[in-house]
Amino acid sequence: MKHFSAKIITWYRQNKRDLPWRNTKDAYLIWLSEIILQQTRVDQGMAYYLKFAKEFPTIKHLAKADNDTVMKLWQGLGYYSRARNLHATAKILQNDFKGKFPDSYADILTLKGVGEYTAAAIASFAFDKPHAVVDGNVFRVLSRVFGIETPIDSSIGKKEFYTLANELIDKKMPGMHNQAIMEFGALQCKPVNPDCSVCCLNSNCYAFAKKVVQELPIKEKKTKVRNRYFNYIVFKYKGTTAIRKRVEKDIWINLHDFPLIETTKELTEEKLLASPEWKKMIGKTKYSIGSISSTYKHILSHQKIFARFIIVNSEQPLRSFLPEEIIIIKEMDIHKYAVPRLVDLFLEKEI
Ligand code: ADE
Repeated sequence: MKHFSAKIITWYRQNKRDLPWRNTKDAYLIWLSEIILQQTRVDQGMAYYLKFAKEFPTIKHLAKADNDTVMKLWQGLGYYSRARNLHATAKILQNDFKGKFPDSYADILTLKGVGEYTAAAIASFAFDKPHAVVDGNVFRVLSRVFGIETPIDSSIGKKEFYTLANELIDKKMPGMHNQAIMEFGALQCKPVNPDCSVCCLNSNCYAFAKKVVQELPIKEKKTKVRNRYFNYIVFKYKGTTAIRKRVEKDIWINLHDFPLIETTKELTEEKLLASPEWKKMIGKTKYSIGSISSTYKHILSHQKIFARFIIVNSEQPLRSFLPEEIIIIKEMDIHKYAVPRLVDLFLEKEI
């Protein structure tokens, strides 16, 4: 199609949202916004971006921060490896790049947590380098407008979409072009029920002409989702409770939660209290069950967590029977620790 880029740029100028990371050419701030937005919607990410940009206005500020402060500020945003990578990368930029953000696509791509999409976004938004961004929005727009039926999650499909995206890019304003196509995907060419009657590309759109808008883009594989059942034990003894720092290679590394019995199926209370894991955790301690919470659900891209919290009133000091890696704290101090969103929701509601 002729003038694809001109058309979406005109549309963008008239319809774009005023977002704070669009009013800067500072690569550090653009990087920060892109990491926050990797698995987060704009409306949720906005407050976090503003908090981070205020607290850490430069690479140096972020590099010098302590990790617990960074994790605490990230709390609630999820996918915490993003925060760890962000902090680790700030230190590398400060120490090895003299605090200056690299300006070439290849160098940006070497940074932890930065893939092809993010590298192209930073290189084009901050430095106007002609690298096309290809994210979910771009796959959708291109597959519909150009009628591409190759699966977007196949290697052949990826190549085809990247090639086309790079052919379409406006070499004079690649940053604007990239913002425009993503915004067009987010606001106009939406995944479900887009209003094609008002679309500036409807006379050039394959999917609209053939009535296959809802069928495109095509995905080869369905994502497999694993169910996990978290039985959290909230011990209580004279105003103390027990938490632990998650150190395993799993979700929520470096966040804190309660001692945990994880199962692959939902267990009844009787079965849980009779299980070897429960006996191992409690030992010969005398206790009573205070309450059992309702189920808290947390949905991630590849897993669904079903968590419940079992309050256990102990008759013995917690240190006397819990293993070393468990931290005993005053109950009222728990808000000082970075915890997963799901634990925070429980604390807000029930403690
Ligand atoms: N999602 C990812 N990057 C974005 C950006 N720069 N603007 C709006 N939404 C985005």
